[in-house]
Amino acid sequence: MQTVTINTLNALKQEGKKFPVITAYDASFSRLVELAEIEVVLVGDSLGNVIQGHGSTVTVDMDDMVYHIQAVCRGNSKSLVIADLPFMSYATEEQTMANAAHLVQAGAHMVKLEGGAWLEESVLMLSERGIPVCGHLGLTPQSVNKFGGYKVQGRTKEAAEQMLQDAHLLEQAGVDLLVLECVPTPLASKITDELNIPVIGIGAGPNTDAQVLVIYDILGLSPRQPKFSKNFLTDADDIEAALAAYAKEVRSGAFPAAEHGFKS
Ligand code: KIV
Repeated sequence: MQTVTINTLNALKQEGKKFPVITAYDASFSRLVELAEIEVVLVGDSLGNVIQGHGSTVTVDMDDMVYHIQAVCRGNSKSLVIADLPFMSYATEEQTMANAAHLVQAGAHMVKLEGGAWLEESVLMLSERGIPVCGHLGLTPQSVNKFGGYKVQGRTKEAAEQMLQDAHLLEQAGVDLLVLECVPTPLASKITDELNIPVIGIGAGPNTDAQVLVIYDILGLSPRQPKFSKNFLTDADDIEAALAAYAKEVRSGAFPAAEHGFKS
């Protein structure tokens, strides 16, 4: 695999080619992600759940993120590395700037933040100063306490309209990629069609430009398999083969199937 940049991903969207994204938190898994030729690795704050054993991502802090980004970058020099800005690390524009710079200096190529219109200025500021940004709409896990649980978002007409507006606003502000998590398939398809940037889905149906999953879920290591995920190790000889199978199914459109999405 050639070194992946934002230009690679934009070209894939233009050509109508889907690409896989997977989380990783350490050098060993990250090395396998590179060997499986997966274009993007996400150092997600899901590490709060799968590495630290917490019930949510809100316990993850900047020190945790820097530690895991550095490990992931030591194991992989080809995939594009996105890193989550953790809970409350981007509550003000000053914090956003300083913390995003810190993650990039640790090795991330792009930072991800969760939320809609309220992030417009922060995204603009990061983008103008040369830090690529990935937005995240739908079920944004850092807001789990506000949502009252992990629930599909954008189900009502008003909520769907709001998400569509937020997606356009984030794109105009300068986000380079957008994650849609647990969003009804028709809404995710509409957002993907209307945006020029690549849209990455998780529980958002088959029509987004890319898919992202948590590596521990696709290896069957999580106590409960989320509806939108799939164990790719069951039919594979080893972890690298499971990652390659995931990549192949995303590229061909075989994953996700209807059963992994939400109709409404
Ligand atoms: O933290 C994470 O792993 C994520 C993905 C599930 C999108 O944000």
